[in-house]
Amino acid sequence: MKKYNVAVVGVGVVGIEMLRVLRQRNFPVGNLRVFARSARDINVDGRDYSVQAISPEGFDGIDIALFAGTEGEKGAAVTYAREANKRGAVVIDNGADFRMDPKVPLVVPEVNARDVQKHKGIIANPNCSTIQMVVALWPIYKKSGLKRVVVTTLQASSGAGKAAVEQLKEEICRIAADQCADVHVCAENKYLPQQLAYNVFPHIGSFVEADYTNEEWKLVKESHKIMHDDKIKISATTVRVPVRTGHSESVYIETSRPITTDKAREMLKKAPGIVVIDDPKKNLYPMPKDVEGKDEVFVGRIRRDPFVKNGLWLWVVADNLRKGAATNAVQIAECVISK
Ligand SMILES: NC(=O)c1ccc[n+]([C@@H]2O[C@H](COP(=O)([O-])OP(=O)(O)OC[C@H]3O[C@@H](n4cnc5c(N)ncnc54)[C@H](OP(=O)(O)O)[C@@H]3O)[C@@H](O)[C@H]2O)c1
Repeated sequence: MKKYNVAVVGVGVVGIEMLRVLRQRNFPVGNLRVFARSARDINVDGRDYSVQAISPEGFDGIDIALFAGTEGEKGAAVTYAREANKRGAVVIDNGADFRMDPKVPLVVPEVNARDVQKHKGIIANPNCSTIQMVVALWPIYKKSGLKRVVVTTLQASSGAGKAAVEQLKEEICRIAADQCADVHVCAENKYLPQQLAYNVFPHIGSFVEADYTNEEWKLVKESHKIMHDDKIKISATTVRVPVRTGHSESVYIETSRPITTDKAREMLKKAPGIVVIDDPKKNLYPMPKDVEGKDEVFVGRIRRDPFVKNGLWLWVVADNLRKGAATNAVQIAECVISK
């Protein structure tokens, strides 16, 4: 089997998961190079990796570069993605820098795998909450159309990177050790905009257009681009919750044509990448604690709106570091090499 030289950029919560997923999915890796801002040795699941300080020359000879560095002007992708392209690598970027660029495909393989072939050097991985939502919506959209989606996300701390995971852990430890005079004022080193232990807050990203956050707009714009349909009316509220890993979403949809809950359940069960857990009388529904480390999107609580024709509720849960980031990126890499 042909092997490919692979670079992983970033060894935060997503980069580490990329190293795991490459191995677990037996991606045909020839040479592997791991980059971050500074050099160091790391160990992941008993394997040693030597991390090199990133440089343009580091991409010489690389076929596929999986970027999981920070976003923005001085971030890894903006600084090094084109350099990697110049040296012959196809870049798959986890950040938001290129997602809405019309020349860059934004791909969730269960939905629009064919878009991969249109790439000009860079392919973008969507936002974690968008990925799990479109995987769940796609089978229903194909059968019954979608007029409207109203989604509230409940996003885990790891969705904001390793500093946010540390903040939550520190707050929980301080509360457990009785180090806070008041459990509602226990955040010492705040990375997130609010204390997360004993709390939830409707604030992910920054407030931009029309009083929504940029995280909320990602669910709208990225879903339109992936599904190739910007007529679907999507509105979102994104909420940070004190969960380590695993985003949950309460998704309300209005389909264009009627669909029964039984039909929706049957289609979702047959769809690739989806597991239906929907037996609430036996306390069975997806929960973040149960999906950590798994690659599928889990759907439950499928039920009709008693008042609105064609109104349906779904509860959608997935591991934001796996399907929401690393797994989806490696699946894209699999599409690239399978052409
Ligand atoms: N967390 C999620 O659920 C999730 C889901 C989907 C997408 N994403 C996206 O994936 C990317 C990584 O997220 P994360 O949560 O893993 O972040 P993180 O835990 O904060 O880790 C960031 C990593 O990127 C490295 N880095 C930062 N700037 C760099 C640069 N200029 N050059 C090379 N390396 C650089 C850092 O290097 P040092 O270790 O040397 O500082 C660190 O290892 C972000 O764009 C994020 O938006 C995250």
